Amino acid sequence: MTKCHFKFESQSSLDKRKAKDAIVLPFWHGKSQAAPAFKDEKDVSGYFDIPSVSEDFKGKKNEVFVLYPEKGVEKRIILLGLGDKKQVNTFSVRESFHHLVSSCKRKQVSSINVVFPDIASIDSDALVAAICESIVLSNYEFLDLKFDSIKENKPSILSSACIIGIDKDKESIFEKTLQLCKGVYLTRDLINRNADDITPLKLAEVAKSMEELSSKVSTTILDKKQIEKEQMNLLLAVSRGSNIDPRFIVISYKGDPASKDHTALVGKGITYDTGGLSLKPTNSMLDMKSDMGGSATVLGTLYALILLKAKVNVSVVIPTCENSIGSKSYKIGDVYQGHSKKMVEITNTDAEGRLVLADALSYTVKKLKPKSIINLATLTGGVVVALGEEIAGYFSNNNDVSKKIDNAAKETDELLWRLPLHLSYNEMLKSKIADIKNSAGREASSIQGALFLHYFVEDTPWAHIDIAGVAFWDKSRGYSPMFSTGYGVRMLVNMLTK
Ligand code: BES
Ligand code: MN
Ligand code: ZN
Repeated sequence: MTKCHFKFESQSSLDKRKAKDAIVLPFWHGKSQAAPAFKDEKDVSGYFDIPSVSEDFKGKKNEVFVLYPEKGVEKRIILLGLGDKKQVNTFSVRESFHHLVSSCKRKQVSSINVVFPDIASIDSDALVAAICESIVLSNYEFLDLKFDSIKENKPSILSSACIIGIDKDKESIFEKTLQLCKGVYLTRDLINRNADDITPLKLAEVAKSMEELSSKVSTTILDKKQIEKEQMNLLLAVSRGSNIDPRFIVISYKGDPASKDHTALVGKGITYDTGGLSLKPTNSMLDMKSDMGGSATVLGTLYALILLKAKVNVSVVIPTCENSIGSKSYKIGDVYQGHSKKMVEITNTDAEGRLVLADALSYTVKKLKPKSIINLATLTGGVVVALGEEIAGYFSNNNDVSKKIDNAAKETDELLWRLPLHLSYNEMLKSKIADIKNSAGREASSIQGALFLHYFVEDTPWAHIDIAGVAFWDKSRGYSPMFSTGYGVRMLVNMLTK
């Protein structure tokens, strides 16, 4: 697993700082020259002259400029552009610091003094958190599958930062940030590793290992026989084409024993999606090791909540199997009866996520009886068509739940948009032979997926976040590195701990 180590410190003023590889100074964009975005100017003003560098550095958003002064505490001065003062927000700050970290990696800078930007429009706690999160999350690199010599020649990663110009009491944010980021790192690693490595069994092991972290955690893992006993025949059907057995994972975290309420987090755990008999073409299969992204997100969230000792009750539920192809594959046109007893006609074996989730949601509603359910799934290609790879789509049957999601996502700068759970479209999913069919073509396909899930949660306050676009990228952008983004962990932790 990728280590999430980072050392943060704080210093009240510039004159008290210790030597580091570089000092980072934030600037606003200015037409003729950049303007300092920090308070304590006099201590650094002797090292360089802003007008003289203004040809090359204007303080534009994401702009990074490195100076090598003749004197001074640090060998390098890094000028960081925050962009237009009127347009700055935590999202843009995260992006700017992502560019800073990229530059530090290239220049083998492993320790930095960061002069805290003076931004009146952003709450200072939120600003400290955004900067620290951006640094730690940008520092992540997935190298497990590289040959050793390539790893050795890789530039070093940043390992420490001293934030200058903040009060000592802000240091509690450092520890929280690291715990939160450990959750994000776990999610990223689980998604990035081989599908042959992250199997249903492995996810069950990871779930079980959470018990070692806290006495408030207990895990129930159903093997194939127990899944049969629970009549989760939709999960069983999807798993049939594979040599690998399914697992059904339930983890309970009781961080608030005084309360009986709990929230269920349900994650799609398809460890590889070939499409089954409705086989995917090669290019569509390329990223399908990431089809357990929902389960990785809820596991990362739980890990962070445990480390943070969050006072909440959460149940994590993961139906997991491989959607493979073989002589035992479940069949297009057949009807299966799952845990809910409702009869489902299979019209496309590639719409498998909703099937395993249907059993999981039905089990969650009937057995766990949570106050609300949030499920995360790389469910449809349609959501990528609608919103692209930077914005998740979500559906909900409850405006309070949706408000909580919107508020949390706003604070963590994870983009998402509510799509309509348009009940008239239930018509599309009507089956002639059974109670419901699992898909009905391309039209409104993300809504179809959501309505299918809704059929199994009924009235329980619920939201379904379709992370098919946001979970896994083949390039880095914004403040996310390449591959798994870890999307959703920070938002869920924020929402549950508010
Ligand atoms: N895992 C896929 C969805 C997906 C697509 C995730 C692209 C990430 C990137 C899902 O199981 C799937 O195959 N969905 C089909 C459903 C269709 C057959 C009704 C889709 O959206 O094409
Ligand atoms: Mn599929
Ligand atoms: Zn899938």
